[in-house]
Amino acid sequence: MLGNFTYHNPTKLYFGTNALEALGEELMKYGKTVQLIYGGGSIKKSGLYSEILEILLACGKEVVEDGGVMPNPTYERLKVGAKLAKDNAVDLLLAVGGGSVCDYAKAVSVSAYCDDDPWEKYYVRFEEPTCKIIPVGCVLTMSGTGSEMNGGSVITNREEKLKIGHVFGSDVMPKFSILDPELTYTLPERQMVAGIYDIFNHICEQYFSGDDDNVTDYLAEGLMKAVISASREAKKDPRNYEARSNIMWAATWALNTLLNKGKTTDWEVHMLGQAVGAYTDATHGMTLAAVSLPYYRHILPYGLQKFKRFALNVWGVEPKGTDEEIALKGLSAMEDWMKELGLTLNISDLGATPDMIEGIADATRVQEGGYHILTRDEIVKILRESL
Ligand code: NZQ
Ligand code: ZN
Repeated sequence: MLGNFTYHNPTKLYFGTNALEALGEELMKYGKTVQLIYGGGSIKKSGLYSEILEILLACGKEVVEDGGVMPNPTYERLKVGAKLAKDNAVDLLLAVGGGSVCDYAKAVSVSAYCDDDPWEKYYVRFEEPTCKIIPVGCVLTMSGTGSEMNGGSVITNREEKLKIGHVFGSDVMPKFSILDPELTYTLPERQMVAGIYDIFNHICEQYFSGDDDNVTDYLAEGLMKAVISASREAKKDPRNYEARSNIMWAATWALNTLLNKGKTTDWEVHMLGQAVGAYTDATHGMTLAAVSLPYYRHILPYGLQKFKRFALNVWGVEPKGTDEEIALKGLSAMEDWMKELGLTLNISDLGATPDMIEGIADATRVQEGGYHILTRDEIVKILRESL
């Protein structure tokens, strides 16, 4: 039974080769001062930084530099960016990079004029912004998070060892995003495959819930098949435009508020992965890959029919044997694919140690929308199996 919902996604997308040509037209819609937000230097190496600066200057903009945003952006860094935005009264936050840069821009947009402590307000109490929100635009250089077309903003508080995401409303979503698949060609293979698994897992998180006949699940199966197929091509040839463009488009649709419509969603793999990330600062997609199989094998009995459907419809497992045997074969096929991509399958390979398990378990938020609500003992068991 499809539940009631409102669907509204305000982000305008420009997709394809040379999509950057649209940037000037978008920039003209905003005031003079633009905070240019980027990561640790990949855009300077690739030449994208100079291209963007040239467009900004040609449009008569004053540029406030905000480079060096780290992967898994921190609360400490957010305070610096928010002050910069307020002190310069910036009119637009232009994020050029992956999910970290884009998430950080959204956090800055709601923090610059926030009278309260943004960490406490948004990431502990999960309140919505009541202050002025600065518009965000995005030029994406890495496919994975879907941050280019959603309100998600994940921030790490290193002091408290917590990594928490707030999904903001449509006022905070990027006003526009520029998606040129060729801008992702320079990604190291490890980042490319981490992004691919992030996409796949976003779909899983919204698929493994409910037992109704729901259009969303059919959309999810199609997207999962597209990601599996394109991932194999991109692994063989990272400059395969067809594959990289399919990955980029699938990433956007995997987490742009479409797949959660009319059904509950799980997100427990992300909660486990984020807690691992808070302790290790590891690459997001890898943290998900490392906890997924122990988690899914643990909850399989509670969602047996969906895991069987996943095996049959996504992995093409033969319908022979008991439901459980078929379902387990689906997870084995997924494991083979994950190994083929070269994903990290253990949290110890990401820097987690046995003495961290209790702390990671404490940092793991328990979700209620999937097939089973985990107890703390079950979280510890899954984390130990992930070591
Ligand atoms: O910092 P630079 O030098 O740019 O290098 C980055 C970074 O080291 C590099 N990179 C990006 N594009 C590149 C490139 N290197 C060469 N060529 C390019 N074209 O890749 C590294 C990783 O970038 P990052 O932005 O951290 O990766 P990703 O896009 O996976 O973002 C991860 C963050 O997003 C959050 C994660 O938790 C994590 O903090 N998420 C956001 C979500 C959302 N907004 O809805 C949902 C996700 O589940 C996720 O939690
Ligand atoms: Zn993710």
